[in-house]
Amino acid sequence: MAGARVGVLASGVGSNLQALLDRVHGRDGIEIVAVGSDKPDAQALARARAVGVPDATFAAAGYPDRRARDLAMARWLEAAGVDLVVLAGYMQLLDAEFLARFPHRVINVHPALLPAFPGIGAIEQALAYGVKVFGVTVHFVDEGVDTGPVIAQRAVEMPGEPTAAQVREALRPLEHDLLCNTVVRIARGEIGVDPSRPRHVRVREASE
Ligand code: GRF
Repeated sequence: MAGARVGVLASGVGSNLQALLDRVHGRDGIEIVAVGSDKPDAQALARARAVGVPDATFAAAGYPDRRARDLAMARWLEAAGVDLVVLAGYMQLLDAEFLARFPHRVINVHPALLPAFPGIGAIEQALAYGVKVFGVTVHFVDEGVDTGPVIAQRAVEMPGEPTAAQVREALRPLEHDLLCNTVVRIARGEIGVDPSRPRHVRVREASE
């Protein structure tokens, strides 16, 4: 892939989306061309609008089931020419048919060192477990909850007894860096999956 047309799905504040807009949008042939949400009041949508990126809401209530919603979303992304979908705080599972339309082209950022602490409340899960090292993961998305092949991870030691807010604050810049870096590297063709070893994502050494 030389460059990328990126669609972002987000349910919340959208700080990861903002990092992508600020740091990769319009560079290296990467364009964020669509921002979708399941929540009409997601702050992420306002961030997209502020820079003229088309946005749309796909609320569950508007569709008979999740599959119908996800297919509508997939069609919208395809119409925008999206070839990479980034889940940036998108709090829903995606239907298998959605994923089949973007094979190895859907990535997610998660605030824990997977496979530890998947799903919601990852930071709270890690704190309850008593870990001393926290971290973030960017991974390809499959049908499970945060179970897809790992692309990249970053860790930070936080001994003592940090609060969830302190951990979240420490992880946020790591997430932003890792997600932006991963999108750039996918756009440069530096990240691939060997079909014979699908869990082992190949990450080529950076060319700079
Ligand atoms: C991030 O912590 C991300 O890892 C998780 O949801 C949060 C989204 O944050 N999947 P934001 O909306 O990008 O600020």
